[in-house]
Order: sequence, then C-alpha cells, then structure tokens
Amino acid sequence: MSCFSCMSPRRKDVRNYDDDTATRSVDSSVSGRGKTYADRNENGRNTGSLRGKGKENNSAKGNVARSFTFRDLAIATQNFREANLIGEGGFGSVYKGRLESGKVVAIKQLNLNGLQGNQEFIVEVLMLSLLHHPNLVNLIGYCTDGDQRLLVYEYMPMGSLEYHLFDIDPDKEPLSWSTRLKIAIGAARGLEYLHCKANPPVIYRDLKSSNILLDNDLNPKLSDFGLAKLGPVGDNTHVSTRVMGTYGYCAPEYAMSGKLTLKSDIYSFGVVLLELITGRKAIDCTKKPGEQNLVVWSRPFLKDRRKFVQLVDPLLQGSFSVRCLHHAVAVTAMCLQEQASFRPLIDDIVVALEYLASQAESSDSRQGGQHIRPPPCPSQQDSDLVNEL
Ligand SMILES: Nc1ncnc2c1ncn2[C@@H]1O[C@H](COP(=O)(O)OP(=O)(O)OP(=O)(O)O)[C@@H](O)[C@H]1O
Ligand SMILES: [Mg+2]
Repeated sequence: MSCFSCMSPRRKDVRNYDDDTATRSVDSSVSGRGKTYADRNENGRNTGSLRGKGKENNSAKGNVARSFTFRDLAIATQNFREANLIGEGGFGSVYKGRLESGKVVAIKQLNLNGLQGNQEFIVEVLMLSLLHHPNLVNLIGYCTDGDQRLLVYEYMPMGSLEYHLFDIDPDKEPLSWSTRLKIAIGAARGLEYLHCKANPPVIYRDLKSSNILLDNDLNPKLSDFGLAKLGPVGDNTHVSTRVMGTYGYCAPEYAMSGKLTLKSDIYSFGVVLLELITGRKAIDCTKKPGEQNLVVWSRPFLKDRRKFVQLVDPLLQGSFSVRCLHHAVAVTAMCLQEQASFRPLIDDIVVALEYLASQAESSDSRQGGQHIRPPPCPSQQDSDLVNEL
C-alpha cells in the first residue's frame, strides 16, 4: 500500500484487475471525495438465496424497503436544499429529510454519471433488503424514477465515526476509551452477522471509519453495501474480483491478486481498530513521509509491546487502562497480519473485544468510575499479559 494524492477519490479501483466471470455480484467504481457537513447543520449474482440466520433474520414486517417517487423525496428534503446537505461521498450527496409520516431520514442521491454507480445502487438495495441487524444501517426505501437513483436510510444523528475521530474541534470532547471500545464491538458484531450469520456469507469490502455511522448513544451501524459480495461457497476459498475498496484499508493480498476472502474484511477491521487507538487516519497525506500510511507507521510499535503506549491517541490524555490497551493492540496486530490465514475470525474478535469491555467495566467500578492513568511505560506484569495472548 502506498499513499496517494489527497485529491484522489476515496473509494475506487485499488488496482485495475479484470473481473473474473465467476464474479457473483456487481462491481463498480465511483469517484468522489467524501466530506462531512454535519458541523454546518443543526447538530453477485448467486443461485443461493441470501438471508440472515437466527433471530436477526429479516422476518419483521415493516422492515422491507419501499419505493418512493422523486417528488416524495424532493418534498422531504425541501428540494434538496443546501441546508439539508449532511455529507458527500463517492456515490453522491447525502441530505437530511423528513418523510410525510414525520420520520427523519438520510437520503443519498446518486451522481448521474454512468452505469457503474447504478450497479452499486442495485447491490446496495438487494443487500440491505435481505440483511437486518442492529449494527447495520436500515434501508427504508429507494427511488428509481427515470434516471434518478436515491437511497433512503434511517437517519444516524451523530454522523460517521470519522467525523468524531479526526480533526476534531479543540472545544469538542474526544471519544473516550470506553466509547471507542463500544464502537469497535458494535462494528465487529455487524461484521460477524455478515460473515457468520448471513447465508451465504457476505464480504463487506468497504469497512472504514466513514462507513461506521453512529446513533444518539454512539451505537455504531455499518453502512454502504454497494461493494459487498457474496462470499465463497462449497470448497471455494475465495471470490475473484476486480479490486475495489479504499486506499489504506485494503488487505495487501486482495490488492495484489484480486482474491477476496472474509479475511480481507478482517484486515480492514484491523485498520479501523488502529484508527480508534491512535486517532490517526488510515491515509493522511498531511503527515510527513513515513507517517502517511497508518499501518506502515504503526508496524514498529505493534512489534514491541513496550511501545504500545506510544500508539495511543494523545487526545485520550492517558485515560485508558494499559492492560486493556495491550490486549486491544494485540487483537489489532492479529487482524493486520500480512498472511491472511493468520488473521482471526470475526466471531473470535467479538468475544475478545467483549471480554475487554467487561474487564474495563469491572475495573471502572473498582476505581469508582475513574480510568486508570498508565505508568510512563508498561510494567513487566502488563508485558507478560500480552505474551499470554
Ligand atoms: N444514514 C445516515 N445518517 C446520517 N448521516 C449519514 C448517513 N449516511 C451518510 N451520512 C453522512 O454522509 C457522509 C457521506 O457518506 P457517503 O457514504 O456518501 O460517503 P463516505 O462513506 O464518506 O465516502 P465514500 O463514498 O468514499 O465511501 C457520511 O460521512 C455521513 O457523515
Ligand atoms: Mg459511506
């Protein structure tokens, strides 16, 4: 991975790679610079049937995406007025709106610039019509009037994780360690649903902090399923596809070979964990050479447990448990293994992170709700703990 111009599209072909005929969903390449406007406003084709297993299954009535007319959505957004604009990404512009029923929604309008975005639109509608989980954003409806392509989602009042993690205003409270852990657990549960409960499994392919949206209580939900693919079935170990994703989050073996596996998502999850721990962006071209690619920058720290503390976001001002940090960094390092087969499965990651959260809670209650200030460098006892992992 290398750093590309900051003017480059955020999500795009990571490398040109011909689609294999076995591709089972529709790929696309869209361009655009994602930008958050929250601060300006008030506040594959497959013969199998894709469905969720267990209690998260799409059986609930009223959870089915409905069709809207363009007029409905123009009224909801007061004619897509500038003041309703809440964000902009590769797909198009996102507006806050109010439906006739009174429900507040986020409406994403596709840039009308060709077929590929349309294909991504179809995959998004299909995926989100069939998959339902508390940690996946809910698709309320869509509009396909004439050339128009719009998606209507539940409104996520706190915007994206990216917005809360990077370049935050000095007067804004940074995310606490426990909130970061809670967000990591929620995102991992969403991914666990896609990998382990959807049938056949779904490879998300676009896990990044701008696609993790937050509700009022900072519960995370994964969004943007236009790049998602049905995972390998039977004896197949991978799906071959054109390489798509976002620089800085894309697994090295997938970028090199186009062979997509569930472990590609685990790598991207590792990058998000690293962003949560460090408060640094996956790719940041404003940093000096050597620090622009977060994974490359972090490697020397990840290899040496005595340096784990140096990874931590300075905005946390030491308010975290060193023991918890050591475990979280160990999980991150495992997700970022160069060799995909060495990366853990998402259900094991969920268990590990939930354990960490429960430990943090019991240590919080023992400390009367206070976080533990770490010693200047990790104690031998902490180091031993990481060794035990
Ligand atoms: N359901 C939603 N509720 C509230 N805000 C949203 C919602 N969906 C998107 N947004 C806002 O719009 C922004 C742009 O989202 P979008 O998915 O179009 O682009 P992106 O994820 O930032 O970038 P890219 O297109 O490269 O993936 C998000 O960062 C978020 O701030
Ligand atoms: Mg997005």
